[in-house]
Amino acid sequence: MLLGTATAIGCANIALIKYWGNCDPDARIPANGSISMNLDGLVTRTSVTFDSSLSLDQLSLNNQAASAPALARVVEFLDTVRRMAGIQMYAYVESENNFPMGAGIASSASAFAALSLATSRAAGLELNERQLSQLARSGSGSACRSVPGGFVEWKVAACDIDSAAESIAPPGYWDLVDCIAVVSQAQKPTGSTEGHSLAYTSPLQTARVNGAPERLDICRRAILEKDFETLANIVELDSNMMHAVMMTTRPPILYWQPATLAVMHAVTAWRKNGLSACYTIDAGPNVHVLCPAASASDLNNLLRQIPGVQQVYQAHPGGPARYL
Ligand code: PMV
Repeated sequence: MLLGTATAIGCANIALIKYWGNCDPDARIPANGSISMNLDGLVTRTSVTFDSSLSLDQLSLNNQAASAPALARVVEFLDTVRRMAGIQMYAYVESENNFPMGAGIASSASAFAALSLATSRAAGLELNERQLSQLARSGSGSACRSVPGGFVEWKVAACDIDSAAESIAPPGYWDLVDCIAVVSQAQKPTGSTEGHSLAYTSPLQTARVNGAPERLDICRRAILEKDFETLANIVELDSNMMHAVMMTTRPPILYWQPATLAVMHAVTAWRKNGLSACYTIDAGPNVHVLCPAASASDLNNLLRQIPGVQQVYQAHPGGPARYL
């Protein structure tokens, strides 16, 4: 007997003000708020079917049986939804990204956003956006920001168990483009869950977290006023601060490769010469270069000429996670 089936898609997102470190690691409640932009066209599509004839949960990722750690993470997530819905059936989960897994574009955010919508509906729950964002957060913190659309803020006050993300501007509000310069497709040495747990071993983390409310205000205002220069400066500062924390944890995490730094230097020089562009880097070596849509094609060509840049993906602001 099938209980229910549902399919949903969710976009990846790029953090403009970063989440790094938790005040409650189990509940994935972040030490500081964050702001991101959804990435249109870089999506995970996920179908979930609860089926009483199954004797275990099953997960297919990009048409292949998932690895044991990936399955374990999804089973934990399914357990949460089963508890919420009061059901005990196992599920078959089929998930596909339309961007290459090794492309250095975080897939956990789009994956858990799509999984939240598909699993809850397949289990018979009707959750609102806030509840879906909270559910996505339990799978991967940044996934809560891929549930609402456009430019999204994950607010956090006093280690709030109900923390969730909400949209601060719709996707069409400001046509920014994220040009993603891929410099390595290798699996990252330290995953973000482990990275978050090390954050407070850095003497810089407390200063980074204490200054986050001010950086969030500046970033939110820059988005609402479409002020690219202010956005560029705060986005680069925030990214550099997160990587300074990463580099000074025990053990340290160094995500950058030589080509990462080459792109950062180039973007800095281009901006000095009048091209509107800024860089930001998540937990990996690849560089997200943001620009207003009018500069995207010039920027794309320039990025492709930097030695070590293997590929450049482009994404405009994306919409909310949705059912298919
Ligand atoms: O959601 P996680 O646990 O994969 O953490 C994401 C961490 C960063 O991508 C580095 C920053 C962010 O805010 O997305």
